[in-house]
Amino acid sequence: MNEPLSLHGLQADIRPYGLSLSAIERAALKHQRPCCIWLTGLSGAGKSTLANLLELRLSGQGRHTFVLDGDNVRGGLCRDLGMGAEARKENIRRLAEVARLMVEAGLIVIVSAISPFRAERAAARALFAADEFLEVYVSTSFAVCARRDPKGLYQAASQGRIRDFTGLDSPYEAPLNADCEIDTETVGLACATDRLMELLLKK
Ligand code: ADX
Repeated sequence: MNEPLSLHGLQADIRPYGLSLSAIERAALKHQRPCCIWLTGLSGAGKSTLANLLELRLSGQGRHTFVLDGDNVRGGLCRDLGMGAEARKENIRRLAEVARLMVEAGLIVIVSAISPFRAERAAARALFAADEFLEVYVSTSFAVCARRDPKGLYQAASQGRIRDFTGLDSPYEAPLNADCEIDTETVGLACATDRLMELLLKK
């Protein structure tokens, strides 16, 4: 029987092609400095809402953007992944790699995903230059998210109808050194969006 080709063997046979147009030139055509803003927090914390508002604000200023939202990406690119720890790691890895490609394409990319594990968020950050990546902790508490329960998932999880639910029977590792922290219970959405815009300007 033939030996299956190992992944390492395959990668050793791949040489990246040096494209003539650089990331810097692509960005210059868009008159912007591309970056990745990574929003992490519990389900229902307000990540997607903030990502959406931030994108609207940026596009209103003529910026070229894209939002990579966990819920949306899980309908396509990550539709084969569940909610167990290994699947979430792979979900985050794919989001990070796609975000990096989009930054190379010259876009301001907003990632909105629970991304519960520190190690995977650190690995995502490591794909970018220091000034290209911002981690935003949307720190709205479990109690508030559970009270909001916009999709009925907290109720389903508490009744045992959903397993591996973040904050219940699946861990959430809060960032230790986020670039910004926003609790959407105490900070209004307009103010939160202002803070993210300021953060981007500062960077
Ligand atoms: S992540 O943990 O891998 O980053 P992601 O942000 O892509 O998760 O997807 C989470 C979304 O899936 C939540 O916003 C929620 O709507 C839905 N969801 C379904 N099942 C779960 C679960 N067990 N835990 C958390 N979110 C879930």
